[in-house]
Amino acid sequence: MSCSCIAEVVGWAVLVIFTAKTVYNLIHFAYTTFLGRLLGRGIDLKTCGPWAVVTGATDGIGKSFAKELAAAGLNVVLVSRTSAKLKAVADEIKNEYSSIQVKTIAVDFTDGQKIYVTLKEELSKLQIGILINNVGMLNGFGRRFGNVEDDKSIHDIINCNILSMARMCHMVLPQMIKRQNGVIVNIGSLSSAMPTPLLTIYGATKAFVEKFSRDLAAEVKSLGVTVQTVHPGYVATNMASHMKPSLLSPDPNTFAAATLRTLGLEQRTAGYWTHKIQLHFTDLANFFIPRPLLERGVLKHMEELAKSIKKASKSR
Ligand SMILES: NC(=O)c1ccc[n+]([C@@H]2O[C@H](COP(=O)([O-])OP(=O)(O)OC[C@H]3O[C@@H](n4cnc5c(N)ncnc54)[C@H](OP(=O)(O)O)[C@@H]3O)[C@@H](O)[C@H]2O)c1
Repeated sequence: MSCSCIAEVVGWAVLVIFTAKTVYNLIHFAYTTFLGRLLGRGIDLKTCGPWAVVTGATDGIGKSFAKELAAAGLNVVLVSRTSAKLKAVADEIKNEYSSIQVKTIAVDFTDGQKIYVTLKEELSKLQIGILINNVGMLNGFGRRFGNVEDDKSIHDIINCNILSMARMCHMVLPQMIKRQNGVIVNIGSLSSAMPTPLLTIYGATKAFVEKFSRDLAAEVKSLGVTVQTVHPGYVATNMASHMKPSLLSPDPNTFAAATLRTLGLEQRTAGYWTHKIQLHFTDLANFFIPRPLLERGVLKHMEELAKSIKKASKSR
């Protein structure tokens, strides 16, 4: 076979593989975003168990998850830092869904080990069908890691974003495995899938969520427990206070509802459809763009974003 003939065969093979993969991705996107639920696939939340636990449940995405779960008929345990906000959200849910039981546990996830004694004591009394590890904090945005002045903030973010998830999973897994039924949703971030200089420690905590959740999912799948990893892009909450609700940064209610519709259909998801597209192109960028180029581009973007946020907050 001549060289031009070999080149032609390779060219066609690449085209066929690329087309097949693109078609597969489009079908997968349509199935996990719209069709799956229409066809009655995915997990019926009510079959998981009577109680759902949501961490970071008094605001933003966590509060929206709690309300969605209550709307689906589950009793909810709200776990967060501020007692007054916990009471307000519990009252809001009870007023809206009178048959739903709501429990609140006030803990600060930056407190390390001791809070897990309280949590274990409270949660061991309940049959937990769903755990949503949503709590997360972001600090030092736009600052170089070496310039972080507050040493404690480094412990805090690791305790809140990493330790909380691992300890909460460890706490509920035995009862879920015993019943061969249960769902754990771990909230990561799109930042775990791309370089995030100037957001280094936050991005790294979310990379832990990705690795931990995927391996845990593989470990417990055959034992009847589903573990899902969610990587949101921007959601218009206090954490992303510079974002207004839009197609690219949905409000938390829209985001939580869309994410719950993907349960049982996708292990790793970005939840909301525009974020799924962003995650897909981020994965592609990681594959096609040389890492140093990607890092330089993101660093420049982060520097500009940090400047514009600083400017906007000064003018407020
Ligand atoms: N918003 C986004 O654009 C975005 C993007 C990607 C990923 N995420 C992830 O999504 C999750 C939720 O984010 P969000 O935007 O909804 O955040 P948010 O609006 O800031 O709400 C955070 C919630 O967590 C609680 N919380 C914070 N620190 C806590 C601590 N140390 N101990 C106990 N509770 C604590 C807060 O309670 P208090 O009010 O009482 O402090 C609040 O209920 C996080 O894991 C975040 O990393 C968000």
